[in-house]
Order: sequence, then structure tokens, then C-alpha cells
Amino acid sequence: MQIFPDQESLSLAAAALFVQLARQAVAARGRFSAALCGGRTPSRTYELLAHLPFRDQVPWDRVHVFWGDERCVPLDDPRSNFGLAHLAFLNRVPIPPAQVHPIRCQGSPEEGAHRYEHELRACFGEAPRFDLIFLGLGENGHTASLFPHTAVLKERSRWARAVFPAGQDLPRVTLTAPVINRAAVVAFLVTGASKSGVLKEVLYGPRDHDRLPAQLIRPERGELLWLADRAAGSEVKEKIG
Ligand code: 6PG
Repeated sequence: MQIFPDQESLSLAAAALFVQLARQAVAARGRFSAALCGGRTPSRTYELLAHLPFRDQVPWDRVHVFWGDERCVPLDDPRSNFGLAHLAFLNRVPIPPAQVHPIRCQGSPEEGAHRYEHELRACFGEAPRFDLIFLGLGENGHTASLFPHTAVLKERSRWARAVFPAGQDLPRVTLTAPVINRAAVVAFLVTGASKSGVLKEVLYGPRDHDRLPAQLIRPERGELLWLADRAAGSEVKEKIG
């Protein structure tokens, strides 16, 4: 757990992490695959990636961008996670368009999930292993679109599933927990006082995956990072010294 003074310093650290992992992956394997999250928290990180110094430090021609989840709306809808990243940085950096892999699920979430899984299998082959997955944390303990008490939490074979979460106005498509847990690095980005209670519960409360799906995220052979600002980390700081 790293606690930062504010959202800006957390966002700078997250952008630096993206650059560091991209350079390492490209140097080692000639490619960097990252899955982005949506919501408010990551937007400043994405903006930073489109500006110096970060912009010119990323080998964009070897980068593949995916999403951890998506709302089933048109890609230019302001609620789209693709749209958030596209406007913040993807339309301002020289990443080849064929290496941007949106989840197209407007109209049919189930078809969108199958189509996305097909694209993932075409990119990764038998075993999906992202170099980096950014995740957010919802106040109800969800991450990506792994919402409490949904069937997708128990999915063990599919790589992507449609989700119709109760209380949410939109169907979604999400990576499943087994795919996320195969990543080399999973980094949660958590900001704001409204997340302080759920962050403490997820990290230090009893295990209850159905109620707190973020607890499902435990990379098998990878690193789990928690980046929180002081407001979100206010109830855990004594635990980490
Ligand atoms: C989404 C996100 C979701 C998000 C959390 C936190 O599609 O909404 O993928 O999992 O990361 O809800 O959102 P905030 O960063 O806005 O608090």
C-alpha cells in the first residue's frame, strides 16, 4: 500500500508505473499489454500519459491497450470507459489504432463479451497475461464490473462476461477474476474519503468475496499494488506504519 498526499501525486506515480512497465515489457518481450479501468479516479493518470515527460517515454508502437470493463453504450458516449481514455490520451499519442482494443458491447452485452474474449484469445493465445491492469474500487467493494452478489464472481473459465448489476443503469462487460489474477501487475488506484471505509474492509476485513469482490483480486504469479491518496487511506495508515 502506497499512500500519496493527493490525487495529483498518485496520478503521477500511476503514470510513471505505466511507463516503467511498458519499457520493461517491450525490452523483454517486444510488447506491452495493459488493461485500463474507468470511473473518475484514473482520468488524471491518463491525461498525464499524453503529456511530457511521460508521452515520449512510452514505446507506443509496441503498446496494446485493453479495458478491464466497459459499459454497454456507444464508444463516444460520455459514460464509456473507452471514451474516457480515448479523449484523455489515446487520441493524442502515436499508438497504432489496431492496438487499441475497445469492448464493443452496445446493443448486446452477451455478444460483446464473446467478441471481446475472441479478441483477447487472438492476442494472448491460450493464457491471458496482461503486463499491467489498472483497477478502481467502488464504494460497494466492486472492481472492474465484478459487482457484489453477481454470478460472474464465480466464473472460472470464461475470460469476459456480460454483467447486469442490480442498481446499475447499464449492462456491462467485464474481465473475469481469473484473467485479472493472471496479470503480471495489478494496480488499484483509490482516491477520496468516500473510499476509506471500503478500502480498510477489503484489505483488513474478513474474507467475503461475494460482498467485497475486490478481495477476489490476488495475482497468482504477479504483483498487487494499492495506490491510495491520503483521504482514501485515512483508515489504513496505522496498519501500514
Ligand atoms: C467503471 C469502473 C469501475 C470503477 C470504480 C471506481 O466502469 O465504473 O471500471 O470499476 O473503477 O467504480 O470508480 P471511481 O474511480 O469513479 O470512484
